[in-house]
Amino acid sequence: MADAPGSPFEPGFPERYEQYFAPIMAPFVAALLDAADLYPGATVLDLACGTGFAARTAAAQVGPAGRVFGVDNNADMLKLAEARHPRMYPDIEFAAAAADRLPYPDATFDAVVCQQGVQFFPDLDAALTEAARVTRPGGRFAATVWADISLSPYFAAEEEVIRDRVDPDTVADHLTIFSCTADRLTAALRDAGFDDATTRETTFGITLPPLAEFTVHHLQTLPAGRRIADTHGAEALTAAGQAVAARLADRAAPDGTVTLPFTATLATAVR
Ligand SMILES: C[S@@+](CC[C@H](N)C(=O)[O-])C[C@H]1O[C@@H](n2cnc3c(N)ncnc32)[C@H](O)[C@@H]1O
Repeated sequence: MADAPGSPFEPGFPERYEQYFAPIMAPFVAALLDAADLYPGATVLDLACGTGFAARTAAAQVGPAGRVFGVDNNADMLKLAEARHPRMYPDIEFAAAAADRLPYPDATFDAVVCQQGVQFFPDLDAALTEAARVTRPGGRFAATVWADISLSPYFAAEEEVIRDRVDPDTVADHLTIFSCTADRLTAALRDAGFDDATTRETTFGITLPPLAEFTVHHLQTLPAGRRIADTHGAEALTAAGQAVAARLADRAAPDGTVTLPFTATLATAVR
């Protein structure tokens, strides 16, 4: 793995991300890879791979004859991705790079997938142009990105709590997570040289662990949550987590778990 720039994330962030996003990400990884039409022997890039959720599942699907690469611009996320890679499939080759400067030759990949990354790219058009460059003719691109926040009640409740506790700039930064619309993504894919760019909303009902603890830990994975702790102290973060849980309490099962819809935009295109 190449050297990556220093992480903007605090120590322990990748581990918390891996643990507390896993239940939410799992069904979307399956949908993403399904949309990418992976097959045994395929060569796949997981763009903005983070801790490697999609790369690991892709490796299982392409089998021993396939090859999987993961690229991200955050050194700490990549370090955990390396550590969690089970090495029972083809080796996953992780690299540190920005999405708009990928370290691969033209037409390398049968498929490029990107789960919850495109909304963070500072230059989406440049990043998708790079994705198109490294995808072989006829190869597939698939991405998921959260749809409007109102379609994911957990995130909506969390945002209400954040909004009450941090400055407007932090709220605006937080809303970046939900900022990439289907229309914007479709246009950028077309401009980048992909064909047949289509999007659809994909919803899964996801059962979260008992909310009393989960909400606090999930907030800790977010810069806005860490801002609450930095500004008001750790107890305020716990109270904020409890406030999220309270907003969703009427949906909780007797054991404290809660099943909620989460909706992402799933985009696909062909090179
Ligand atoms: C929400 S995480 C998603 C990670 C992973 N794809 C997943 O499914 O869990 C967003 C990831 O995008 C990465 N990222 C943000 N901007 C990037 C860029 N310009 N180039 C490469 N990676 C980027 C971050 O480092 C982070 O790991």
